[in-house]
Amino acid sequence: MPSATPSSPRVVLGVTGGIAAYKSVDLLRQLRALDYHVAPVLTPDATRFVGAVTFSALASEAVRTSLYGDSTTPIPHTYLGQHCDLVIVAPATAHLIARYAIGLADDLLSATLLATRAPVLLCPAMHTEMWEQPAVQENLATLRRRGVMMLGPEVGPLAGGDAGAGRMVEPDVIVEMAQRILEGHRGPLSARHVVISAGGTREAIDPVRVIANRSSGRQGYALASVAARLGARVTLVSTVSLELPLDVARAITVVPVESADELLAAMVKLQTSADALIMAAAVADFRVRAASHKLKRRDGVPVLELEATPDVLAALVEGRGQGQVIVGFAAESEDVEANAREKLVRKGVDLLVANDVSAPGVGFEHETNEVTIFERSGAREVVSLRDKEGVAEVILTRVASLLAQGAS
Ligand code: CTP
Repeated sequence: MPSATPSSPRVVLGVTGGIAAYKSVDLLRQLRALDYHVAPVLTPDATRFVGAVTFSALASEAVRTSLYGDSTTPIPHTYLGQHCDLVIVAPATAHLIARYAIGLADDLLSATLLATRAPVLLCPAMHTEMWEQPAVQENLATLRRRGVMMLGPEVGPLAGGDAGAGRMVEPDVIVEMAQRILEGHRGPLSARHVVISAGGTREAIDPVRVIANRSSGRQGYALASVAARLGARVTLVSTVSLELPLDVARAITVVPVESADELLAAMVKLQTSADALIMAAAVADFRVRAASHKLKRRDGVPVLELEATPDVLAALVEGRGQGQVIVGFAAESEDVEANAREKLVRKGVDLLVANDVSAPGVGFEHETNEVTIFERSGAREVVSLRDKEGVAEVILTRVASLLAQGAS
């Protein structure tokens, strides 16, 4: 059993009972190759898929599977939880995710997850039907809110000859993330300032009434949380005030705005210090010349004459700084691909995130979203239905890689 240098980062590698467990052997090997101290914890079901001996042979400590220790480590969950810098669970089954979300501690892995203050990275793997279950998505959303990090799953071949969303991310992707967490870089957006707009603008008709839209602001807030978790300093220009998860609240400054004009002024001001600007807000395209007094019923039905609002995204693209990445959104209800590609070019953005708001579970007022990300190069990435933080992760990973390439 090879041991790591005493100062090496310590990782608890949790493995649950899914077919992807065989890949965790390679994950363990790669983590050990970085000289990390790796303590594997297998759930009883994991041992049906992979042999504990295989893990013990490669790891820094013998595999543990039981809550009840031996004479050297009588209470293994507190020992493991207190003596680690990162817990990775790969694969994380729907069952483990549910137990963790409700705080069960009925085996060594779930007890260790409760007994640690170290960062936790879950790599879910399951069949598409299970992945798409609201119960699973809600458990993941709960865990994300508490600061648990997630990677994947991907779309691809699954057990039993099936294919779809639910395949565990490859070990090298997990290792890269573990390295970023453990080696203090705090993520691919570290030292970046990301400015995000959220919510729907409200345009005054008179001092009481507004023209508004159905945007909840949830996708923008999810982008802000995930950007902060990836290491960015975030400014969130928002028309709505939602609760921010505790782990990221300190990294996010919220600038409240209401109208398109206010949003424009705030975004343009922030542009000078931004590395990336993400226009997730649903900006009203039209407004009326607001009356200074409340319109009275006795004066009859008013005729509202509409005028165009400023195009915030266009202004940002016009004022784009060196290397700045600009992301636009497009909520479409028909011909999504054609409209999105046309909008990408017309707006001059680096990425255009399109969603078909007529599809079930998508867009405004939903907890979930399903989008396609279009790039200037012509590439596109379909992000299957998942919670809005899951969507944000994919978008921000693309933003991080464009920034790393020194986009435009
Ligand atoms: N947007 C903006 N300012 C506006 C309208 C939209 O900055 N006045 C931004 C949105 O935040 C979004 C992108 O532009 O990121 C696309 O919004 P959308 O309403 O789909 O674009 P429009 O140009 O208004 O096209 P459409 O005619 O389809 O509404």
